[in-house]
Amino acid sequence: MQADTILVTGGAGFIGSNFILQWLAAETAAVINLDKLTYAGNPANLANVASDRRYRFLQGDICDREFIAELLITHRPRAIVHFAAESHVDRSIHGPDDFIRTNLNGTFSLLEESRAYWSGLSGAAHDQFRFLHVSTDEVYGSLGANDPAFTENTRYAPNSPYSASKAGSDHLVRAYFHTYGLPVLTTNCSNNYGPFQFPEKLIPLVILHAISGKPIPIYGDGQNVRDWLYVADHCEAIRTVLSKGRTGETYNIGGRNELKNLDVVRTICSTLDELRPNDPVVPHQNLIKFVTDRPGHDRRYAMDASKIESELGWKPRETFETGIRKTVQWYLEHEAWVQSVTSGSYRQWMAKQYSL
Ligand code: NAD
Ligand code: TYD
Repeated sequence: MQADTILVTGGAGFIGSNFILQWLAAETAAVINLDKLTYAGNPANLANVASDRRYRFLQGDICDREFIAELLITHRPRAIVHFAAESHVDRSIHGPDDFIRTNLNGTFSLLEESRAYWSGLSGAAHDQFRFLHVSTDEVYGSLGANDPAFTENTRYAPNSPYSASKAGSDHLVRAYFHTYGLPVLTTNCSNNYGPFQFPEKLIPLVILHAISGKPIPIYGDGQNVRDWLYVADHCEAIRTVLSKGRTGETYNIGGRNELKNLDVVRTICSTLDELRPNDPVVPHQNLIKFVTDRPGHDRRYAMDASKIESELGWKPRETFETGIRKTVQWYLEHEAWVQSVTSGSYRQWMAKQYSL
């Protein structure tokens, strides 16, 4: 492996694979991608860089401390960008065990082995090492319609097993900075969308159901608000924090794109009306079906990203209108990818969640 290397965990998932593709196009350092390949991980996302000599995939579990210790000693990364997690709120409601194991115990294992590795470094390698922890706005809980957006100082109030496990991991990361001086950075980001998102999440699910004439399930009254960010903008923000962020700090990342779920779905449907006028059901919004709400469903998330904007000079490039059009087009052009991820375990999940 090359001298200048970063370790990415969870790089075969949605955001991690977008991050690696962007990193290899924009930066010089090599990338080791450590991923367990759960249902959400797909090495085919990285097919375009598989033969790049700066890229290497290692299948493994972040809970496996021996494996991580050896990996760090062998490959000597200058930074760790930690995406690996169980990430789907609905799955965390059906079965929280894996969320506690990976998000809490896994992050703990990674922190412990990073601390041991970093303690053994000297000079510039020691001073420049960074551990960047990727987290979510969901740790802050739910906002009322007129509340100000979440800042880095908002009190943590997680409401789902997913957000509670992420909140716990954020606290561990913070503690490793204050107790051991490990040079950590934490980013909390709002809802992402874009290429390679697993189609159990709202936006790809709506696109795929709409084009095949299946009901589009909207939980509750569809008035829940999320702050949508195009995934490439999130990846740029992470690269910015990695290179310029102050250690021990957290940075909120968001798109300033607050939208009600029903409006997101209608926008996708009208985009498809234009691009796919011959689909089985047009207008596509005739497929909308209101279904039983998610238990404990957070009403509204909104991120105040002014700290990263003013301190580090990051700003999103995409509006929701430009990002959603790119996303819809990507799913229409990548039928083979969709086929490969919507097999066995995906179908079981859809049957369990939606009785489809
Ligand atoms: P994802 O579910 O698509 O990908 C997660 C990846 O982690 C998968 O490739 C999976 O195989 C891997 N993984 C799971 N358990 C593992 C383990 N024990 N060891 C090694 N690898 C393991 O998730 P995503 O949407 O890409 O999210 C990535 C990170 O960003 C997560 O930490 C998530 O909390 C955070 N985040 C996501 C969003 C979003 O909208 N998707 C928003 C804010 C923050
Ligand atoms: P999701 O993509 O699961 O992200 P998160 O729960 O992390 O915000 O869901 C986004 C929003 O869409 C959320 O308010 C739940 C809602 N939703 C539906 O209405 N129907 C669905 O089938 C799904 C998956 C989500």
